[in-house]
Amino acid sequence: MAYRFGRKMNTQCMLYTLIALIILWIFYIGLLPCYPVDDGIKFVPNAQYMYLADNTSIQYDRNLPLVFVGGFPRSGTTLMRAILDAHPEVRCGEETRIIPRLLGMQNNWKRSPIEAKRLLNAGITEDVIDSAMAAFILEVIVKHGEPAKRLCNKDPFALKSMMYLAKLFPQGKFIFMIRDGRAVVHSIMSRQVSISGFNLSDPKSCLEKWSKAVETMHSQCIHIGPSKCLPVYYEELVLHPRTSLKGITRFLNLPWNDALLHHEEYVGKPGGISLSKVEKSTDQVVRPVNVDALTKWVGKFPKEVIDSMNQLAPMLNQLGYDPRANPPNYGKPDDEVILKTKQAQNQEEGKYRQNSQKSMR
Ligand SMILES: *[C@@H]1O[C@H](CO)[C@@H](O)[C@H](O)[C@H]1NC(C)=O
Ligand SMILES: *[C@@H]1O[C@H](CO)[C@@H](O)[C@H](O)[C@H]1NC(C)=O
Repeated sequence: MAYRFGRKMNTQCMLYTLIALIILWIFYIGLLPCYPVDDGIKFVPNAQYMYLADNTSIQYDRNLPLVFVGGFPRSGTTLMRAILDAHPEVRCGEETRIIPRLLGMQNNWKRSPIEAKRLLNAGITEDVIDSAMAAFILEVIVKHGEPAKRLCNKDPFALKSMMYLAKLFPQGKFIFMIRDGRAVVHSIMSRQVSISGFNLSDPKSCLEKWSKAVETMHSQCIHIGPSKCLPVYYEELVLHPRTSLKGITRFLNLPWNDALLHHEEYVGKPGGISLSKVEKSTDQVVRPVNVDALTKWVGKFPKEVIDSMNQLAPMLNQLGYDPRANPPNYGKPDDEVILKTKQAQNQEEGKYRQNSQKSMR
């Protein structure tokens, strides 16, 4: 009996519980707003799209496989981006200038403990800063030029924040341009390229600062690893363009394209290379690469600078440039480079002759 009674009670109990649960559930549904909420309102950014020439749309967000080209100014960063711009799938475009400045500001906020504490108190957490930074940088990269399958950014000093950029853009890849610091410093001094903090009449301090800045970028390049950062030696790119560029396309997972070897033919063409009138390197990348420029710095530094080269710029040795050789042996250009240089010289001479004949008449 007891068994049966208990069983009956159990059934009744279960029935009441079920009814109670159903009522509760109905209430819950009734109280629910029209969209699911767990712990308050969530802001979901609108999906962003860009449209290619054939109207295919590409959604873009932080997972875009962006390409960042950088390094110390006058290290072939403009040449590198012009070559990539000649590829039909890639658009780099002009320097944005605001991206490295913004990255510099972010670095300052983080570095000052007082500022960091104040920001945290205002709810400006690392996540807030990161998503705002990523959104800003992404919009600038996407909208300052033509849409393309593969977007790229060239702001030389942005690579001082390589690790941070790699965190913001997990699919991003970095091309770190490296060039003999003596050639770099000679170039910034002779062309009067103003870089904040650089005294353009003091080769010693310029070499020291070059070394420090390159060290910062180099250590970050090693830190994020060879799948994300590829160091590219300017001298290699100039002397052995085919081998160097094959390696670069492999690194970026881009199909090979012969346009990469003739970037000067794509300047100013639709879908080709858009150049800035105000960037210092523009006058050089409109021409085929000039091999003679590699050693222009030789004989231009005072003896005491030459003698203390290794102490002034320890990164020379670290990167494989002999600090005592003036010049070091950069290697012999490939045959196709020699041929192209000759053709370019003939063309220039031809133009010169035409012009002088015109003015004679
Ligand atoms: C792309 O879309 C625009 C506007 O909708 C249209 O005028 C144009 O013809 C389209 N182009 C192609 C290639 O489909
Ligand atoms: C720049 O360097 C030159 C040569 O060393 C020095 O005479 C000059 O005072 C320096 N200028 C500044 C602003 O430091």
